[in-house]
Amino acid sequence: MPPPFYTATLQDIQRVAQLLASGEVVAIPTETVYGLAADALNPTAVRRIFEIKGRPLIDPLIVHVGSWTQLEKLALPVTGLARLAEKFWPGPLTVVLPKHAIVPDLVTAGGGTVAIRMPRHPVMRAVLKACGKPLAAPSANPFGYISPTRAEHVRESLGERAPHILDGGPCDVGVESTIVDLTKPGRAELLRPGPVTPEALEEALGMPVTSPVREQTPADNEAQRAPGMLTRHYSPRTPLVLFPRGARPPAALKDCHKAACIFQARPAEAVAAPNIEAFWFSEDGSPDNAARNVFHLLRTLDEQFYELVAAELAENAGLGLAINDRLRRAAAKAQDNRG
Ligand code: TXA
Ligand code: MG
Repeated sequence: MPPPFYTATLQDIQRVAQLLASGEVVAIPTETVYGLAADALNPTAVRRIFEIKGRPLIDPLIVHVGSWTQLEKLALPVTGLARLAEKFWPGPLTVVLPKHAIVPDLVTAGGGTVAIRMPRHPVMRAVLKACGKPLAAPSANPFGYISPTRAEHVRESLGERAPHILDGGPCDVGVESTIVDLTKPGRAELLRPGPVTPEALEEALGMPVTSPVREQTPADNEAQRAPGMLTRHYSPRTPLVLFPRGARPPAALKDCHKAACIFQARPAEAVAAPNIEAFWFSEDGSPDNAARNVFHLLRTLDEQFYELVAAELAENAGLGLAINDRLRRAAAKAQDNRG
């Protein structure tokens, strides 16, 4: 029997809040992706998150808060945070801050910093308010697979390992939050590109944002500081190859018995090969619409029997940076398999 879904009714939200307060783990929607949430101050509950995901304990978790007061109990509100909070919270931005002793080592992988996010999804906000506890939550997927943007994705990929799922419908943004590190005085470092662009961060902070993520080569990936960003983090099972925006799809598709080709926008002309099926991340090719659909489409195609999936990259700017980052990570496994 698949686990039942809780819904976004007042009654179910109260029930979910009780479950969380008593140390249970619940999958909850945020505007970016579904998170696998537990009371961040309860190490036993947090340990369950790692077990359910099959995630190594060295990979720290994001803590979700509902208010500034809650944040101040967990972390030091360093210079720059207030500006970012004013502009982007509640919303899809995570900020790495120096942590207070109250945050369990398990949450931060023993480190002295904690990643904090104030989400804007009304269901997540209602849960945070009802339970009154900060919630540690990674994306609700098994470690190494594509993040879930619908309640069914959580059920399909975690199955009975995730007994409680709160269904708040499809996620509006569709890719995970931007992560920026403010722990080094006078510096801001982008650890993961996301819905809040580097340019928007720079404008709000009034200083440049460095970006090791954007500039690194694939070989550097193993050593980077946001371990969830390891090259193979988003790997589907079906080989995935990428092609530049506006370019012709890769010739390798023609050699397959059955292949899929995903475009950023609905293509003007049909694909002229019977063995290649065409898909698109969005009708109009806008990054907002593409981001909302990118994980869902990769998952859907991964469940079918394609020999190869090709995907067109987005324009490498704004939200396109985050889309391309996730596509590259998903494709890395296919590259590795060939090498
Ligand atoms: O949109 C999101 O951020 C979603 C929703 C559920 O909030 N969460 C999410 O969590 O994507 P997760 O665990 O899948 O990715 C969080 C990333 C990981 O790469 C982790 O290594 C990094 O954040 N991280 C967490 N704490 C950190 C810290 N103190 N310093 C540096 N990186 C950290
Ligand atoms: Mg994740």
